[in-house]
Amino acid sequence: MADYQNILLQRPERAIAILTVNRPNALNALNAATLDEIADAVAAVAADVNTRVLLLTGAGEKAFVAGADISAMRDMSALEAHAFSARGQQVMHAIEALTIPAIALVNGYALGGGCELAMSCDWIIASDRALFGQPEVNLGIPPGFGGTQRLARIVGRALALELVITGRQIKADEALRIGLVNSVTPGAELMDKGLEIARQIAAKAPLAVRVCKQAVQRGLDVDLANGCVLESSLFAFAFGSDDRREGMTAFLEKRPAIFRGQ
Ligand code: COA
Repeated sequence: MADYQNILLQRPERAIAILTVNRPNALNALNAATLDEIADAVAAVAADVNTRVLLLTGAGEKAFVAGADISAMRDMSALEAHAFSARGQQVMHAIEALTIPAIALVNGYALGGGCELAMSCDWIIASDRALFGQPEVNLGIPPGFGGTQRLARIVGRALALELVITGRQIKADEALRIGLVNSVTPGAELMDKGLEIARQIAAKAPLAVRVCKQAVQRGLDVDLANGCVLESSLFAFAFGSDDRREGMTAFLEKRPAIFRGQ
């Protein structure tokens, strides 16, 4: 496994990868080196067919990720800033494009690039201490790692506009209410909760999980009729798998299915 300085990539179980942004002294802020390491780790996860789910979190008690690294950004030219934004967006796209589910476990501040990183995952589980926001406006910039786009798609136009224009930070309960996070859990239980869900996902037929993700994700980019065409194709594709036959046979034989990923 690569020797990372700013992140940890762990595999507590064969099917589960945990990526932890690990710069607690800077509240896990994202500088270029950290983005590169996340990209490398995500590529490694994508290349390993045995990994069935990715959990993404931040090191320490306080922060998931407190944003893009402001000290790295302060002296950037507009051209350098453009490249930094594009790199950040690439990394978020790579997470979103994983064929396996990625779940953000937000353990504290998820501000700016941290909120963007969390939103690039398929869903977010928040600790009751989590705080979300896009406060870039206070630095004289808009969000640059996809935040204006993903936040609006997740919570809707008016709320996204309010949050990016005022920079207002919201607590976990409000994030839950507006649909930014799927669930809220006590901070001490966050990783256990993430692992519990990861194990549930890992026990399912891996091809079925992948096509479920693809159908929902790709379907949202097209009109309903085309989304349904995609769904039928993926449905038929999954029918070709041994796991599909096992799943249906196990149901009819009233026993748990044993999926082999074939
Ligand atoms: N970039 C670079 N460094 C950051 C950072 C960021 N986004 N967020 C926090 N840090 C650093 C601080 O500079 C500080 O470093 P120091 O100990 O060397 O002085 C350290 O992390 C701890 O942060 P601090 O501000 O002292 O903690 P706090 O508990 O008082 O406040 C926050 C926490 C999250 C409210 C505050 O750090 C903050 O507002 N961060 C910036 C959030 C932001 O604007 N994000 C969007 C960036 S695009």
